[in-house]
Amino acid sequence: CLRPVLKKGWHTSEGRGRFLHNTFSENIYTNKSLMNKFDFSDMDADSPRAPQKKTMSHESCQKFSKLLFTSFIILLLLLKILFSVALITLFQKHSQFLDEKAITKELNHTELECTKQHPLLKDKVWSCCPKHWKPFSSHCYFISTDSASWSESEEKCSSMGAHLMVIHSQEEQDFITKTLDSQAAYYIGLSDAGHRQWRWVDQTPYNESATFWHPGEPNNDKNNEECVVIRHLSSKWDWNDIPCNCMRKSVCQMKKIYL
Ligand code: BGC
Ligand code: CA
Repeated sequence: CLRPVLKKGWHTSEGRGRFLHNTFSENIYTNKSLMNKFDFSDMDADSPRAPQKKTMSHESCQKFSKLLFTSFIILLLLLKILFSVALITLFQKHSQFLDEKAITKELNHTELECTKQHPLLKDKVWSCCPKHWKPFSSHCYFISTDSASWSESEEKCSSMGAHLMVIHSQEEQDFITKTLDSQAAYYIGLSDAGHRQWRWVDQTPYNESATFWHPGEPNNDKNNEECVVIRHLSSKWDWNDIPCNCMRKSVCQMKKIYL
């Protein structure tokens, strides 16, 4: 009756050892069974699937880098386009601003009188002179009835965006003298820069063959006549040199304003 008990090892050290061994084996077996239920192959670095996963991850990383780089390039291009557009817009606005400023400067005269250059053509260009100025060819002329020195007269013209009249042709002189007072003398934009070096205020060349000096002039009377007036003498309008500080009327000239 005791044998089965002994065989099972409940009461002998040998039997107990075997029992423990069996129990341990059973535990291993159980664990192996459990392990078989789960797939731990991925955890094994030496398994054949591990390197594949590593390659996939590297490819993904490369793809991501490429995507990031492409996005960066696209962003740069967009920024470049945006910057170019902004720059062009800014340049156009600035040009427009300068044009408007130039027109505003020209239009410091409150009123303009304009004519169409070619009335028959559908020409959009209007040529204008400030009110009270006289148009002739491509210029406008203003007769100042105030008397002043040559420098003051030039300053006055300059403040109106003009300069003292420059005469380069008989037609131009005839046009303006028709409207002048024959009892008065008017400063024009010609003066002596020294040693009889005649200079026009607009820097155009002084051409001796296109001058209208009165016979015997310029005589530099008393050696102090360095400015020029146009005056009516002996039934003729012509030029005389006088001292620059003499108070005289004057004629201003400016280019026509085209709109
Ligand atoms: C003027 C000169 C001029 C002379 C002859 C003088 O009174 O000061 O500029 O040349 O007359 O007309
Ligand atoms: Ca003189």
